[in-house]
Amino acid sequence: MLDVAFAKPALPKTGALVLLLAQDEALAGLALAADAAIGGGLKRALEVAAFTAKKNQTCTLLAPGAGLSRIVAVGLGKRADLTELIAEEAGGTGIAAVMKDEAAALAADGLTPAMAAHVAMGATLRAWRFDRYRTTEKPEDKPKLGKLALLADDATKTRAAFAPLKAVAEGVFLSRELVSEPPNVLNPAEMAERCKALTKLGVKVDIFGQKELAKLGFGALLGVAQGSVNEPRMVVMQWLGAGAGRKAKKPVAFIGKGVTFDTGGISIKPAGGMEDMKWDMAGAGTVVGLIAALAGRKAKVDAVGIVGLVENMPSGTAQRPGDVVKSYSGQTVEVLNTDAEGRLVLADVLYYCQQKFDPAFMVDLATLTGAIIVSLGHEHAGLFSNDEELSTRLLAAGVASGEALWRMPLGEAYDKQLKSDIADMKNVTGRPGSAITAAQFIQRFVNGKPWAHLDIAGTAWSTKDAPCVPKGATAFGVRLLERLVATHYES
Ligand code: BES
Ligand code: MN
Ligand code: ZN
Repeated sequence: MLDVAFAKPALPKTGALVLLLAQDEALAGLALAADAAIGGGLKRALEVAAFTAKKNQTCTLLAPGAGLSRIVAVGLGKRADLTELIAEEAGGTGIAAVMKDEAAALAADGLTPAMAAHVAMGATLRAWRFDRYRTTEKPEDKPKLGKLALLADDATKTRAAFAPLKAVAEGVFLSRELVSEPPNVLNPAEMAERCKALTKLGVKVDIFGQKELAKLGFGALLGVAQGSVNEPRMVVMQWLGAGAGRKAKKPVAFIGKGVTFDTGGISIKPAGGMEDMKWDMAGAGTVVGLIAALAGRKAKVDAVGIVGLVENMPSGTAQRPGDVVKSYSGQTVEVLNTDAEGRLVLADVLYYCQQKFDPAFMVDLATLTGAIIVSLGHEHAGLFSNDEELSTRLLAAGVASGEALWRMPLGEAYDKQLKSDIADMKNVTGRPGSAITAAQFIQRFVNGKPWAHLDIAGTAWSTKDAPCVPKGATAFGVRLLERLVATHYES
């Protein structure tokens, strides 16, 4: 993780300097001092570049003088419109421009400690990189920046405001790392081991193996797993932060689809792009990162995270199209397509969650359908829910966190399409509305409890950089759900 040191505003003597400029404002503070130090060169450069300080606009001056390697001006937009998200994006955009420098300072003078802390958060989030498997990268291609000086009017208060955000960043990084790992490394057993590490944060972690799951009667999940030599796991993580003595409240619960690789099974996927299916465990990755974030900042909430971990493989022992399995709920499912496996995993885990924990609500996350990408592209995740209050809160948390949701419908007409000729339901319908019928399938396993399903197939992975999210695993949902909990469910 980028090492951020907080210090009083002063012009650095070497390295890079990032300045945050608001629209329609004259240069002030460190920006004015920097301009003076280089003989008015900053003002001239901004004019030549027609820099107006619009949100995320940048202007870079190379070797500007005064010992600096570069000055990067980043637009904040109008100060009156500044939000935590805009502050984060400015920090992220700024750091991206100085990653090849050995030292950098980011001037957040003129901002409140809270806003300056979010600038540091954005920089931290963007500076992350998954490096584990690079051994021959040339030094000139490597980012060099390890340390950032965050210059703030009240460095002490800013440092304090950053502490809980740093814990959230750790959760985001854990999630990104899990999703980035190759599927030969991150199989269900390995992912369960990585969940176990959360015990260090005070999380209670229980791991269920093949035998325990069979004993419970997880027929739907086990049917998916049976084609793989890598046995399944279910991991239950409990963060009990609400504290004793307070009125006992129901826990909040988060459930993740953790298919560590999805070949499609016997209903095998086409070869092209199949490598993407290593991130079919992103829902689970988000749940693990979220619980790490909540525990890391000692959130005053009781939260349960449960992930169902399987590998979906074709083999002589694999499930066949046409098989009928008995789910943990007792309902039977005719598996007409072995590639619609995520819903089978979620069915058992969701039913278990509500039976065992009687939570205030359940939110599941899953890279569930290609159809949600057809509907919403990569800009929103699909939100499906049986609860108005939970939906409203989730949508608002999405706007605030920049992890946007779009509500999709549910209804009887969709549900009907799941009718099977020989079992209680089938696991696939026709293509029309198939992200919705997938959600409808899951809803049959929530036992009427308040529930929301986030289909993150289009948002879990990105092919281009965003201000606070380098391309690759996005950890979509960690920040959204952390914010949901912080706003509504902490005592
Ligand atoms: N993991 C996939 C969904 C997916 C597809 C995620 C593309 C990300 C990118 C899921 O298990 C799946 O295969 N869904 C099928 C369902 C179909 C067989 C009803 C799909 O979307 O094609
Ligand atoms: Mn599939
Ligand atoms: Zn899948």
